[in-house]
Amino acid sequence: QEVHAAQMERTFIAIKPDGVQRGLISEIIARFERKGFKLVAIKLVIPTKSFAQKHYHDLKERPFFDGLCDFLSSGPVLAMVWEGEGVIKYGRKLIGATDPQKSEPGTIRGDLAVVVGRNIIHGSDGPETAKDEINLWFKPEELTSYTSNQEKPDS
Ligand code: TYD
Repeated sequence: QEVHAAQMERTFIAIKPDGVQRGLISEIIARFERKGFKLVAIKLVIPTKSFAQKHYHDLKERPFFDGLCDFLSSGPVLAMVWEGEGVIKYGRKLIGATDPQKSEPGTIRGDLAVVVGRNIIHGSDGPETAKDEINLWFKPEELTSYTSNQEKPDS
């Protein structure tokens, strides 16, 4: 009988409408792929404003909340779930600081964005938000489970 390891860590990553419009999908996916993280779900969706408000509910008291939700619902968003050891924290590292003026070169926002309101990508900031965001954006049957060539089945 096969023994299944505990569910590997997963995070929710989204390329926002500005990243999609600018043609940065392949560039961004490549960075997560080359690092060795595993793509387990992906879809292109135009969220409604109320869906955007749900996604960003933690920020509803902030002055930029309304504009942020208008923006997220303004066009296609590439919603993804990435899996791997430490993917929540390291995914945030690949993304860089919220304000692209403060993101280090070499990070996605540092290399590809200039202003905070157009910072091209979202990544869950912790295990609880990762779980909530994956559940908000994806149905359980949209999440795949497979072994990639880069990982040993039992490692
Ligand atoms: P936040 O959750 O603080 O950052 P992150 O995306 O790095 O987790 O904020 C969510 C988004 O809100 C952020 O990506 C861009 C936008 N935002 C602004 O437009 N102005 C701001 O001053 C801040 C802090 C965020």
